[in-house]
Amino acid sequence: MDYRLGFESLDESDEVVDAPVEVDGTLPDWLEGSLIRNGPAMYENGGASVNHWFDGMAMLHRFGFDGAEGEVKYTARFLRTAAYEGMREGEIRRSEFATDPCAGVFGRFFSYFTAPEPTDNASVNVVRKGDSFEAVTETTMPVEFDPETLETVNVPDELDDLGELTTPHPHVDPETGERVNYVTRFGRKSEYRVYVENDEGVDREVIAELERDRPAYMHSFGMTRRYVVLVEFPFVVNPLRIRFGDGTVAESYRWKPDRGTRFVVIDREDGEVVASPEEPAFFAFHHINAYDEGEEVVLDIAAYEDASVVEDLYLESLHGEPPVGMPAAEIRRYRLDTEDETVTGETLHDTSFELPRLRDDREGRAYRYAYGVGHRNSPPEEFPNRLVKFDAVEHGTTVWEEDATYPSEPVFVPNPEGTEEDEGVILSVVLEPAEESSFLLVLDAKGLEEVARCRVDRPVPHGFHGDFYRRRV
Ligand SMILES: [Fe+2]
Repeated sequence: MDYRLGFESLDESDEVVDAPVEVDGTLPDWLEGSLIRNGPAMYENGGASVNHWFDGMAMLHRFGFDGAEGEVKYTARFLRTAAYEGMREGEIRRSEFATDPCAGVFGRFFSYFTAPEPTDNASVNVVRKGDSFEAVTETTMPVEFDPETLETVNVPDELDDLGELTTPHPHVDPETGERVNYVTRFGRKSEYRVYVENDEGVDREVIAELERDRPAYMHSFGMTRRYVVLVEFPFVVNPLRIRFGDGTVAESYRWKPDRGTRFVVIDREDGEVVASPEEPAFFAFHHINAYDEGEEVVLDIAAYEDASVVEDLYLESLHGEPPVGMPAAEIRRYRLDTEDETVTGETLHDTSFELPRLRDDREGRAYRYAYGVGHRNSPPEEFPNRLVKFDAVEHGTTVWEEDATYPSEPVFVPNPEGTEEDEGVILSVVLEPAEESSFLLVLDAKGLEEVARCRVDRPVPHGFHGDFYRRRV
């Protein structure tokens, strides 16, 4: 078995609560709290199946660290959503990103985004709002869960009034605590609506509304102290035309490279667009970071040549025989001049780099280190197979890799006593197909040397995102 083991479906018999995990190595005594991760874990059941990595049923995973005792416990549970309940009974009941429950019966696109059938399968990320925790995806239907038991607490039954599509990557300003995100509201005149709320997710205020005939697919965005930057890739949709079409959401977006990629720089204070320069077409899922430097915005992003990666994440491609696999993104830096309204771009490093993370207090600030997954070789192997630390000052990389293993998004946890940016550990769930299991890898973030590996004794499916939450004292 190879990396495709991570795309095999689990079921409820695979759920587990506080299973002891064997620790090989010594965990830092300050590592106390929970790594909570989200990702798809059921792609087929009882004759029903989905088409795309994004469409599998969400499972939450929790690695609990108890600090000085050095013990680790693992919990995994499916989110109990309407989409999940359907799948459990062998039916696709909600329109997913690339899977349609009702071909030719309803307008597929609008059945994804509008009542009564938007998907509530919140399989992409985890967000903390004050004392509550939410599993989130791109539809505006966050699902609240209990961070200790991972039990589902509340499933919304309708979309947010503000709009239908959002990003599972809100930014939190490390100084003000403000949480910023945007939604796309589809209609005769579609709009991006950028909003800010407090860290508990209330007192929401829309700070900018931008009309678009052809909204772009933007899975994340950039934010600095002063600006929000929407990078509009030319992967766009005509909501009105496709309302009566017969494609899924994924099929409805079109790659229009002639449009170029537009950087829309929005002032966080007054919502004004201060610049919107364009570059030749490229595509990305993930921004790495952005920050202000004088009148310039420096914006780092994990860039693909085009949006074909969306196609490459169909299960047919990832899990088929032979697998096509996914392409590699590279690290690019764009400098946006807010006075001249120009942009210049360069490749900072051509290493394969995805699922980028950095320390929370560097969000929107000048930074030195980012961490991600990558491929070892070029052309890339079918699936990312190493961890990469990128030095954004020296433009160098440090890697962790081990034969036939597949690490997840690396989450940086700072040493609370530390003074340097990379003083802390990296947590990544690594799939080891030959052992038919996974382990939670703990690396010293400085040199990516192994500190400990915590054997889960079962395969953990390939997931997307998560975060570490310190135990509150
Ligand atoms: Fe993401």
